[in-house]
Amino acid sequence: MRKLIIAGNWKMFKTILEAIDLANGLKRNLFDVTTIDIVICPAFTSLAEVYEVISGSNLQLGAQDMHWEEQGAFTGGVSGLMVKDAGADFVILGHSERRIYFGETSQSVNKKIKAALKFNLTPIVCVGENLSQREENRTFEVIKQQLEECLDAIEKEEARKLVIAYEPVWAIGTGKTALPKQAQEVHKYIRSLLVKFYDEDLAGNLRIQYGGSVKPENIFQLISEEDIDGALVGGASLDAELFTSIVRNSLKVGK
Ligand code: 13P
Repeated sequence: MRKLIIAGNWKMFKTILEAIDLANGLKRNLFDVTTIDIVICPAFTSLAEVYEVISGSNLQLGAQDMHWEEQGAFTGGVSGLMVKDAGADFVILGHSERRIYFGETSQSVNKKIKAALKFNLTPIVCVGENLSQREENRTFEVIKQQLEECLDAIEKEEARKLVIAYEPVWAIGTGKTALPKQAQEVHKYIRSLLVKFYDEDLAGNLRIQYGGSVKPENIFQLISEEDIDGALVGGASLDAELFTSIVRNSLKVGK
């Protein structure tokens, strides 16, 4: 049995006060939900303050990126040690926006995964094809290469601590959600790769989230699919009521 995991990626939104407000709203709305892991990922500047709000509650904290070094002369960098210190237990790594706008590669993601695990952070490792790759029928090839490179030299005992997020780039912030069957097809493929890289046991237990225009209206159908174990939500996670509805509608699936 894989416990569902719904995460909110707040991206570069919310001042500290706004973040505190949103965290308070979610804490109030979702206090009774124990069967789903709920993770919120504010910007670095709000991590510690949001931690103060949700500490002791059923909500968990994640960062949106980190550097692979523990400390050093890396102006603008924030390390795994630092995000852990701020209260995070999760970290999103390899998000397509980091890949597109900040030169993130699967090789740097690989280094970050290893560093995150060292600090007891659960990496949420993002993979996904862009529109032209999908149109050229290269989706599986792209996902395979990303996963192979991201997971390079990561042993099974370490890999079992990961969460994978499948986020087709063409579905992010566009309002175009992958059809549940389209997403399921890729999730199933990712699981088959995990069997190949590791084994059935690990593949059967690792959680694979879907991300890309997830809303209260489409979450039920998405996570009704066998291999979809939750969601990584962008835009709709910025609104307490919408994110609450996403979590509540997920409960109805009864996974
Ligand atoms: P949207 O939900 O806004 O499409 O963003 C998805 C995403 O990038 C989550 O990480």
